[in-house]
Amino acid sequence: MRIAYLIGLLLIVVVTGRRRRSFRDPATFNANQNYHMNAVIPNATEFFFEVPLDHFAYASTNVFKIRCELNLDHYVDGGPIFFYPGNEGTITGFMTATGIMWDLAANFNAAVLFAEHRYYGASSPFGKENDYKNVATMAYLTSEQALADYAQLLISLKGGNTAAKHSIARIKLCFFGGSYGGMLAAWFRMKYPHLAVGAWASSAPLKYFNEGGVDWGAFDDVTTRTFIDSGASYNNVKNGWTALRNLAKTTDGQKFLNDLFNVTDNSTIKDSASGENLVGYVREAIEYMAMVDYPYETNFLEPMPGFPVKVASQFLKDEGNWTDKELAIMLFKASNIYYNYYNDSSYQACLDPEKCGDPGTSELGDPLGWPWQECTEIVIEQCARNSSFFFDECTDRPLELLYQMCNDTFGKLGWTRPLMRYNAVRDLYGLDISAYSNIILTQGHLDPWSVGGYKAGDPGVNGQNGIYVVEIPGSAHHLDLRTPNTCDGNPTHNLRFQAVNIIKCWLTEGCVNPVLKDLPPLNDVTTVKCEDMINKYPWGQSDNGPSGDKGSSTAKFMLAMAFMAFVQRFLITKS
Ligand SMILES: *[C@@H]1O[C@H](CO)[C@@H](O)[C@H](O)[C@H]1NC(C)=O
Ligand SMILES: *[C@@H]1O[C@H](CO)[C@@H](O)[C@H](O)[C@H]1NC(C)=O
Ligand SMILES: *[C@@H]1O[C@H](CO)[C@@H](O)[C@H](O)[C@H]1NC(C)=O
Ligand SMILES: *[C@@H]1O[C@H](CO)[C@@H](O)[C@H](O)[C@H]1NC(C)=O
Ligand SMILES: *[C@@H]1O[C@H](CO)[C@@H](O)[C@H](O)[C@H]1NC(C)=O
Ligand SMILES: *[C@@H]1O[C@H](CO)[C@@H](O)[C@H](O)[C@H]1NC(C)=O
Ligand SMILES: *[C@@H]1O[C@H](CO)[C@@H](O)[C@H](O)[C@H]1NC(C)=O
Repeated sequence: MRIAYLIGLLLIVVVTGRRRRSFRDPATFNANQNYHMNAVIPNATEFFFEVPLDHFAYASTNVFKIRCELNLDHYVDGGPIFFYPGNEGTITGFMTATGIMWDLAANFNAAVLFAEHRYYGASSPFGKENDYKNVATMAYLTSEQALADYAQLLISLKGGNTAAKHSIARIKLCFFGGSYGGMLAAWFRMKYPHLAVGAWASSAPLKYFNEGGVDWGAFDDVTTRTFIDSGASYNNVKNGWTALRNLAKTTDGQKFLNDLFNVTDNSTIKDSASGENLVGYVREAIEYMAMVDYPYETNFLEPMPGFPVKVASQFLKDEGNWTDKELAIMLFKASNIYYNYYNDSSYQACLDPEKCGDPGTSELGDPLGWPWQECTEIVIEQCARNSSFFFDECTDRPLELLYQMCNDTFGKLGWTRPLMRYNAVRDLYGLDISAYSNIILTQGHLDPWSVGGYKAGDPGVNGQNGIYVVEIPGSAHHLDLRTPNTCDGNPTHNLRFQAVNIIKCWLTEGCVNPVLKDLPPLNDVTTVKCEDMINKYPWGQSDNGPSGDKGSSTAKFMLAMAFMAFVQRFLITKS
């Protein structure tokens, strides 16, 4: 059986696996487009910060620069820095997808700083041509090195010795991050507690690793739940895969599918093996829609309506004794919400990822980055179980598939099996959070990644140590960090409100971490006219904490300053 297997975003390798959903954050997609159609993100000043290629060995003095984006529009002396540790992609996408930081900056008098992850976007150690040349050049692409980059940047920004009495040293840093960026935010607070007061990490699957106790099939079980809760029939989808496979076996069925999906000439279905490409194509649409089941229109991989899962589920809901062709039509209509929402009549489905890449993700650069991370340090094992409305593929350990994919991709570049340290996360950061403090971990109930994180009942959670774990009803992949919107459910508004109070506490000397209150039940949200709620804190929630007034200080920094000038300004204002 040959099934397409998507790794990372752009690079798709055909192995015995399948198209694999991307872990990559939606925010990395189409960085130049407005990911959330309404969000307006303030301009930031770009600068480049020099870091050692290797923070951990003293073998070379090589350095390179990472890209940083700084905004001081709302900074007032004494305010904190809101910092975003860039994930696996160009930084600009994350700036757009993390609207909450911009929105809260005014409330906290905060500077806003985003740093790009090494090896992505413009943060290239060896030059774009050479970064992914071989194992020797890729070797420094690790989460640990990235965290060390951020630490060095922030220490410079704070002015050296963090224990010094100097004002810069006292600037407090609060981390925000979503998805892999959320993992980095949490891991940073774990590893560098002297540099960050805390982290708000959304949709960070910190336990989806070997020995983390998360079932391999959990991701697809949640995908299934999200669709069923939105009205889809379990049986229709489950039987749909069999239908596609049956049709792919006969000449008549192949013609039917090729016409129905308007399949490109170079990826036509002509046998069972090529039929598997269609299975992967439809499956990917379903999984991605669950991940980004946002209440309003978004445009990341593809333009999609608000609550795309609900829209797609309309076509999957009617139970009946359907023929294979009828089931195929249902899956076609559902997946079209993802691939071709605007019903462009010239749209053609290219099913073979080797021929045209992933239709939704072909705009991206650095296609080898995330796969490399998956093949070395960030090893996430997944497969669908029979309990899901997909099919049973957990008969073999997913690690074996991953090994094959990694060898196919990186074998010729020098990768060998022992380079995949599938216990690295367990060993570096741990899979038990009770030794740590001050991390807000949020998951969207609709998001398949939500099962990959800590749970409310886990040791060390919701204690006085400031570890909070919250699952937000009605929320998708890091919706809570996006620009607040009238169509976000009340649980999301309320979580944001409570998170603000927790962060205020972290920034206040001697404050005892507040107890997290239960989120209100999910209200019926009208999604007819969704609008951003800019500068609307506390979003209708009752505020019994400090208001976060700007006070009388008018020592606002000017925008458009280079990095050193920024540091200088801190000095000048204090004196
Ligand atoms: C960003 O800068 C450009 C050019 O200076 C300006 O036209 C635009 O209005 C600015 N955008 C925001 C959101 O401030
Ligand atoms: C379902 O349809 C098939 C073919 O049309 C038929 O053979 C079968 O008896 C039907 N089953 C039920 C439960 O109606
Ligand atoms: C495209 O067609 C489907 C029905 O097949 C419909 O649900 C959807 O709203 C259409 N898209 C747009 C943008 O009108
Ligand atoms: C399939 O795509 C081709 C090429 O864009 C287009 O001309 C044709 O109308 C499409 N067919 C259908 C049935 O949509
Ligand atoms: C396959 O066909 C599609 C659509 O016609 C085209 O965009 C793509 O470049 C083709 N791929 C190859 C490898 O020829
Ligand atoms: C999977 O579940 C279906 C029912 O949903 C059942 O008929 C089938 O036997 C199961 N397959 C395996 C391999 O357990
Ligand atoms: C792994 O990749 C290398 C280099 O491309 C190749 O020689 C080797 O046969 C591959 N091993 C497996 C098990 O596929």
